[in-house]
Amino acid sequence: MEAGREVVCGGFTTVPLSESDFPGQPYSVSVLKSGYCRPQTDGSFRADGTITLITGPRTVLVDTGGPWDRDFLLRTLRERGLGPGDIDVVVGTHGHSDHVGNLSLFQTALMIVGYDVSEGDVYRPNGLAAGHAHCIDEHVSVVPSPGHTGQHVSVQVTGTSAGTVLVAGDLFECCSDEDSWRDLSMDTAVQEVSRQEALRTADVIIPGHGLPFRVLRNS
Ligand SMILES: [Fe+2]
Repeated sequence: MEAGREVVCGGFTTVPLSESDFPGQPYSVSVLKSGYCRPQTDGSFRADGTITLITGPRTVLVDTGGPWDRDFLLRTLRERGLGPGDIDVVVGTHGHSDHVGNLSLFQTALMIVGYDVSEGDVYRPNGLAAGHAHCIDEHVSVVPSPGHTGQHVSVQVTGTSAGTVLVAGDLFECCSDEDSWRDLSMDTAVQEVSRQEALRTADVIIPGHGLPFRVLRNS
């Protein structure tokens, strides 16, 4: 269901969605918490990153919120019948504190943070830095999406009821972020390329600090 007005983003028409669950076969995607970023009158921001769960043959958590989300995250997973040990893969899209504040809860998971892929203290060679996707399986892959930070990654899930879903971290702040994303970017030219690729390939994008949005295509 659409939750807001269409906006033009990078030459594509996008529209915010109210739903947080995108069921599919074999993978479903659920937003456990939508991130936000709210300027305060004193010049500070209140911000938290989106937390997303991907369920199917593997259970994948994308971003863990800030340290203050610890109890929320444990409770929300428990409500879904999951404990920290049930999470197979944890992806931190980038190393900002509102996205990777609870990595330590998931000590048995394969950990992918930026371009680092590790199990325990064993770091695996991978192709992310060379621009290659790191496939979890044929439906779920971690893709390099640099710009917001130098080693930012997103997670692509194919085959949901909404089509291809991209859990995008801070590649996108929110559906209508044309006024804000550049201020938060380490490299706007690089991020613009990453954003265009996302807008070309994803049907739904889950941004780091706002509601999921659909990318409308005319064809
Ligand atoms: Fe960030």
